[in-house]
Amino acid sequence: MFSEHATEPRLSTTDYLGVINYNRPIHLQELWERTPRMKDKSLCFIGCGNMGRSLISGLLADGYRTERICAIDPDPEQRDTARSRFGIEVYADNPEIVHQADVLVLAVKPQQMQATLTALAAAMDISQLPLVISVAAGIRVAAISRWLGRDLPVVRAMPNTPAMIRTGVSGLFANQQVGTEHRQQAEALLRSVGAVVWLEEEQHLDTVTALSGSGPAYFFLLMELLEQAAVVLGLPAEQARLLTMETALGAAKMVMESSHSAATLRQQVTSPGGTTEAAITVLTRGRIDQLVLHALQAARDRSIELADRFGNRE
Ligand SMILES: NC(=O)c1ccc[n+]([C@@H]2O[C@H](COP(=O)([O-])OP(=O)(O)OC[C@H]3O[C@@H](n4cnc5c(N)ncnc54)[C@H](OP(=O)(O)O)[C@@H]3O)[C@@H](O)[C@H]2O)c1
Repeated sequence: MFSEHATEPRLSTTDYLGVINYNRPIHLQELWERTPRMKDKSLCFIGCGNMGRSLISGLLADGYRTERICAIDPDPEQRDTARSRFGIEVYADNPEIVHQADVLVLAVKPQQMQATLTALAAAMDISQLPLVISVAAGIRVAAISRWLGRDLPVVRAMPNTPAMIRTGVSGLFANQQVGTEHRQQAEALLRSVGAVVWLEEEQHLDTVTALSGSGPAYFFLLMELLEQAAVVLGLPAEQARLLTMETALGAAKMVMESSHSAATLRQQVTSPGGTTEAAITVLTRGRIDQLVLHALQAARDRSIELADRFGNRE
């Protein structure tokens, strides 16, 4: 159960949180002050798998109190993992805890959303007006409201897998019922695992899914191909791997820390007649720009298709 009597965590202004805004380090104290009410809210996670646990882990690292977080998950293994890792209460089912929650975080698979929300609707008090934050890919606000049977404040978030190591990025969209305080609450949740970008239109979440949702896999693929090519050219596999990883990290850090765009940084390291230019000429002749555009379009279209498949059910 949520407890009102927990002690405030001790904060130090030197507690460094490097994942919030890549252009500027931010201190835990500052985040705490920026989202003053969030720490008092009770959060109930519906689904405590990979993404649910990543978010809980981020909140606790930000100084959120275990007493204000609980979860519901039918899988006994997931319950044990979350209990032992975080010390929070995790239930197989608990309508009472749903009644008490200020924020319901929906972290079940998209294909489980309809059954989950229909059951939640039956468990919820009619007068209850929690903020609903959904991280389920492709399930639109209209479907969430329809299955819950009421128009609640809903924020849809599209995080990505680096959220697991608190270097994720999320696209967020809020429906009209979401006010300033709810926005801050949703933002505090997702900021605990990385950067956030607010979207004006819900349909942009499909593009966010294609860009940053699926994006880590594109970089993994490029790294995989670079490693393979270096091995073909004679480097030992371990060395190829290390050189590729460090290059990816260095390039990402340079883009984050520089005021220049990726295009400018690329031009700066591409001397006319040099080695980089030789490689980039091959890539541009092979129409890498068109390939990337088509890849993103395919991912965006698939996101829309999946949303239609799972979200159009009554
Ligand atoms: N993982 C990512 O990187 C990522 C990124 C962006 C968005 N997301 C979104 O996050 C959501 C969760 O993904 P995930 O990878 O965390 O999935 P997951 O590991 O499968 O976790 C989902 C959990 O929810 C449980 N569950 C099913 N029905 C439930 C119910 N009615 N009430 C409470 N819990 C229920 C599942 O139990 P059972 O196994 O018994 O069904 C499972 O333990 C998905 O909608 C996904 O689109 C994930």
